[in-house]
Amino acid sequence: MKDDVGEILITEEELQTRVAELGQEISADYQDKDLRLVCILRGAVIFLSDLIRHITIPHEIDFMAVSSYGGTRTESSGVVRILMDLTTSIEGRNVLIVEDIVDTGLTLSYIIDNLKTRHPASLRVCVLLDKRERREVDVPLDYVGFVIPDKFVVGYGLDYDEKYRNLPFVGVLKPELYVG
Ligand code: IMP
Repeated sequence: MKDDVGEILITEEELQTRVAELGQEISADYQDKDLRLVCILRGAVIFLSDLIRHITIPHEIDFMAVSSYGGTRTESSGVVRILMDLTTSIEGRNVLIVEDIVDTGLTLSYIIDNLKTRHPASLRVCVLLDKRERREVDVPLDYVGFVIPDKFVVGYGLDYDEKYRNLPFVGVLKPELYVG
């Protein structure tokens, strides 16, 4: 699988260092607050599992799966559907969304609007990768791991056609492997 990667954008070591920093920041900011992390499946699962090992305050986790349908394998359509909802109420909770990547911002914007209707005490966003150049809607990001260029990336939870999530780094596939 590693042979399919043309360029490593963020190494395993860089990821681990930055994720540890984010965990420390979050722990300090949410000291004495009851924290609920909402992980967006499936891409953010590796990020979440590393992140919570650096969060030193008590917290709970829950999961939500969304998909945008239409679009192509490398472009989301912006039409978002909830495939699996949270199992717990977030009313009155301090919610931190944990997401893998923000591209156009359409997916996250939908999730934020949806979760707001459930009356959390606070709602913030922690995203590993910010593909800022591609933004179509403005979404407030409270914690950002890395700002990356406009390239379709895989690894560390991110997939291309459901593959490559297991790579320990973030990389770009060789161009001949992308089919639209
Ligand atoms: P957005 O709605 O355009 O911001 O897209 C967000 C979703 O598209 C992410 O949660 C990912 O699932 C997917 N996505 C966007 N860019 C990439 C990428 O470079 N690699 C893998 N998935 C991506």
